[in-house]
Amino acid sequence: MIPISGEKRMRIRAVEEKDLPELARIDAEAFPSAPYPYFVLRQYFDICGDHLFVVEDDEPRLYGYVLASPPHHTLSWIISLGVTPELRRNGLGRRLMVAMLHRLQSEGAQQILLTVEPDNGSAILLYRSLGFVAYGTPDPDYFGRGEPRLLMTLSLRTAPPARGTPPSAPSASPSAGRRGGP
Ligand SMILES: CC(C)(COP(=O)(O)OP(=O)(O)OC[C@H]1O[C@@H](n2cnc3c(N)ncnc32)[C@H](O)[C@@H]1OP(=O)(O)O)[C@@H](O)C(=O)NCCC(=O)NCCS
Repeated sequence: MIPISGEKRMRIRAVEEKDLPELARIDAEAFPSAPYPYFVLRQYFDICGDHLFVVEDDEPRLYGYVLASPPHHTLSWIISLGVTPELRRNGLGRRLMVAMLHRLQSEGAQQILLTVEPDNGSAILLYRSLGFVAYGTPDPDYFGRGEPRLLMTLSLRTAPPARGTPPSAPSASPSAGRRGGP
């Protein structure tokens, strides 16, 4: 359990079907300009729900989530990460990421990829602090015209990310391209 400001106690767990409406709410709060349609979240749940972690308190109420692709030939993608604005800067994003990275590594993932908007400074700082490095320069039209994304990569071949602390510096060479977050 993660204490937040001495009040809320948070836990990270795999998503359940009953969470889908709450998950849609969190996603819309985290990505107000481009939330996933409900059917997309439903299909992510059906296809890779065991790689979708949520953080909740005792009410229970959800406050964030992380979604990844199961390792394929040792490669995984972080597809989305979001924390509700009211509880940002409390370490939830980092803990969700670390929990997922441990899960992926335990399943054989050696390389993690994600995409991020080049001007999303808070997310880039978080990913860098976990050992991700930029792979090349931002693609100005990655998600279509005027939708730039920076590809970032993390190698898990050497050191796993310690719980709550950054891993050692990575090296990597991604081999595929796909959506990595709204
Ligand atoms: C990005 C996001 C998930 C971070 O979640 P969070 O719970 O606030 O992050 P944490 O509290 O775990 O912060 C971890 C690190 O990220 C960096 N960081 C996060 N927010 C930051 C901010 N506003 N300013 C500067 N650094 C920030 C810091 O390095 C921080 O470490 P520190 O607190 O030890 O300095 C959250 O801001 C969010 O949901 N944003 C909207 C959705 C989004 O952009 N998702 C990522 C898509 S690629």
